[in-house]
Amino acid sequence: MSFTVKINGSTHSVDVDGDTPLLWVLRDVLGMTGTKFGCGMALCGACTVHIDGVATRSCITSIESLGKSQITTIEAIGETPAGAKIQKAWLDHEVVQCGYCQSGQIMSASALLASNPHPSNADIDDAMSGNICRCGTYVRIREAINLAAQTNEKGG
Ligand code: FES
Ligand code: FES
Repeated sequence: MSFTVKINGSTHSVDVDGDTPLLWVLRDVLGMTGTKFGCGMALCGACTVHIDGVATRSCITSIESLGKSQITTIEAIGETPAGAKIQKAWLDHEVVQCGYCQSGQIMSASALLASNPHPSNADIDDAMSGNICRCGTYVRIREAINLAAQTNEKGG
């Protein structure tokens, strides 16, 4: 069956079964491999993308459920204001270790910063709790989000 999906500002037509997860469409059909497969059961966060700005697990999101939603992936998150700040803070703070979980971490952190310019540590922990890092970069992730938030104007 043919579906039209809007990803990173471009429209793509894909011919897949309706229950195909968005993650497989991104990786296997469109060759966008920045979004990672970890568990396939919404337990690890490696596959996180934005659907209309909301951090969403693409491994359990069927292509037929997307409708006219706008999807943003790690390939384009740096083009959003919050995503650019998060990616700069990640580099400045040298967050990444093996890197496998990090596109999902950045997508969750960017969604948080876009919706809450000055998150508390509790807000950060709450927003990031579904993103697992086997390398244990959690402390640096929290510090980098705080660093990115410092670049937002007070009250903004
Ligand atoms: S692969 Fe989707 S949450 Fe783990
Ligand atoms: S950096 Fe290795 S799993 Fe997170």
